[in-house]
Amino acid sequence: MSGVRGLSHVAIATPDADALAHALCSALGATRGAEELLDSGGLRVVFVTLGPLTFELLEPRSPTHTVAKFLAKRGPGLHHVSLEVDDLTQALARARAAGVEPIDSTPRPGAHGSRVAFLHPKGLGGILVELSQPDGEGS
Ligand code: CO
Repeated sequence: MSGVRGLSHVAIATPDADALAHALCSALGATRGAEELLDSGGLRVVFVTLGPLTFELLEPRSPTHTVAKFLAKRGPGLHHVSLEVDDLTQALARARAAGVEPIDSTPRPGAHGSRVAFLHPKGLGGILVELSQPDGEGS
């Protein structure tokens, strides 16, 4: 049975991940975690945790990255909500069967060795939803 286990993280697009991480830590008492480069260096990702909540700060490093285009068009703010699933392939098939089209037709690598796929916001109230399967789990 393919199910959503819960919230993986909330992702925020920002031109300056260090400044936002500092604000979240000083204003809300969050803790800065690891960071990594994704998409062949085109995207810097900084993690900040606050109790059970994880923020994923997305700082584009290339003007052609989709997050750079997002910032140019909409400004800083909520980029996506990531839901953890135990079987990404099944979760994608279920969404597709319900008429919600994936942006990624096949899963791609995400942070921490996870596999991720995005669902089109048009079918989900305007929210970009990322389905994420943790490293080493499922099919
Ligand atoms: Co994410």
